[in-house]
Amino acid sequence: MEDQAEKLREIVRQKNGAGEKPAGTGNGVPFYKNGDASRKGGARGANGGDQAPRGGKTRIITVTSGKGGVGKTNLSVNMALAYARLGKKVVVMDADLGLANVNVMLNMIPKWNLYHVIRKQKTMKEILVETDYGISIVAGASGFSKIANLTEDERQNFIEELNTLSNADIIIIDTSAGVSSNVLDFIAAAEDAVIITTPEPTAITDAYGIIKIIATEYDNLNMGLKLVVNRVKSAAEAKKVADRMTNIAGQFLNLKVDYLGFIYDDAVVSQAVLRQRPFMVIDPKCKASLCVQHIVQRMEKSEPRETGGFASMMKRLFGRA
Ligand SMILES: Nc1ncnc2c1ncn2[C@@H]1O[C@H](COP(=O)(O)OP(=O)(O)OP(=O)(O)O)[C@@H](O)[C@H]1O
Ligand SMILES: [Mg+2]
Repeated sequence: MEDQAEKLREIVRQKNGAGEKPAGTGNGVPFYKNGDASRKGGARGANGGDQAPRGGKTRIITVTSGKGGVGKTNLSVNMALAYARLGKKVVVMDADLGLANVNVMLNMIPKWNLYHVIRKQKTMKEILVETDYGISIVAGASGFSKIANLTEDERQNFIEELNTLSNADIIIIDTSAGVSSNVLDFIAAAEDAVIITTPEPTAITDAYGIIKIIATEYDNLNMGLKLVVNRVKSAAEAKKVADRMTNIAGQFLNLKVDYLGFIYDDAVVSQAVLRQRPFMVIDPKCKASLCVQHIVQRMEKSEPRETGGFASMMKRLFGRA
């Protein structure tokens, strides 16, 4: 953990040194300016989805929470579907193989995961699983931190493989709950970090906890933090929770948190989970589905934090290429 904290501080130092603008400007300088020419690795043609490379930039969104069970995986998967409906090529990555959340929610059992790519047993293209819903999923490998132990050759290969994902328009990373160093690494690296909470006091406290840790670890970086309030009975209830959180974060942590939207408590969600199909598929017009579509619309209107794209995210996660 100490190593991780030091790594994070190093990221902060580098970023500050690179003349990062203060929080809220939305157009900071990427952490790594050099050696990033290979992003949009589409030139190699391996894009996992057998589609032509996209012209645009890949947007990387992490979904995280303080407390477990507040709706991260549902949001990740259904947001992916909402993006797919807009014609986007979307990859959902399960950041933690141990939980295998995304796979369970989609009733799929991928044979391979990122670990096999790390070990050079498989290519990214081989482990990427197309779903019936127009999105692709990648099963994660637990212990991303072990990347530090890879040989230079293995690490280089892994980053190159990950680069092939940069043909996607959107990569959504479903992280595990809480403030493990891996989660922090992902948040630090991604362009948008969506924090999800429910109106429950314990969930709010834990969400505030993770925001506080982010604020402490990263100084006053523009983290692109966005808040979703899940399982609410009314828009007013959500707004109250969001106002409280964004005010406290601003006042005490000097951190800008944007309120992205809310999701109604909706019986379709648990039915969908039981049937191992996304609620956007079970009923695209149910309250929860409409909320998620609204969240994606808001997301599309907001500027992602400028971080230099996928390749530089991977470098931040795994050290210099
Ligand atoms: N909007 C909602 N309406 C009704 N039930 C919901 C809603 N969102 C989530 N749930 C319920 O909460 C459960 C947990 O959701 P989900 O698995 O997405 O949470 P999670 O944050 O990913 O959990 P974990 O921390 O274990 O990964 C779901 O199985 C569902 O029953
Ligand atoms: Mg989950």
